[in-house]
Amino acid sequence: MNVSAPAGRITREVISAESLAQRVRDLGREITLDYRGRPPLMVGVLKGAYIFMSDLAREIKLPVEFDFMAVSSYGQSTQSSGVVRIVKDLETDITDRDVLLVEDIVDSGLTLKYLRKLLGDRKPASLEVCALLVREGAQLENVKYVGFPIPPDFVVGYGLDVAQHYREKRAIMVFEPDSD
Ligand code: IMP
Ligand code: MG
Repeated sequence: MNVSAPAGRITREVISAESLAQRVRDLGREITLDYRGRPPLMVGVLKGAYIFMSDLAREIKLPVEFDFMAVSSYGQSTQSSGVVRIVKDLETDITDRDVLLVEDIVDSGLTLKYLRKLLGDRKPASLEVCALLVREGAQLENVKYVGFPIPPDFVVGYGLDVAQHYREKRAIMVFEPDSD
């Protein structure tokens, strides 16, 4: 098993821990207003969204519920394979539920497109998306709540990884893979 650090390095911070906390508070406030009287079932996409979701949930002043899905799209690479695979499905029946899908980053949008279809087919009362990061230029019409737009650089931290590393970092930082 390869447990060594991925080849490359963190070059700079792009979103500080303080900016993340402030934006998460604002998103929580907005979601609290929008969902008053119909607390959402938050569906986190593992593993990248779990730190964001845990902070966001505590800024939503409603009795939210949690569930998680795990999908795999990237493997060990920093390039999208374009293939989405369900690794763990929901435990909750989402029929007639107000579902808030929580994503770490919408990059090509392939994962989101796939999950929207999958969850939409289960007939939730509503289905909205909250993404911490959205790649600049990505299709935004499907994402109601956006934390930050992000330039093309590959980023890690606050849940996001490269080959399972750096998820625990408090800020969002650029990771530059070694060119070879
Ligand atoms: P998409 O299907 O291309 O939109 O990719 C979505 C998934 O790719 C995200 O949920 C992340 O797991 C991963 N991903 C895309 N860009 C980055 C990045 O810059 N850093 C870490 N993970 C990323
Ligand atoms: Mg990932």
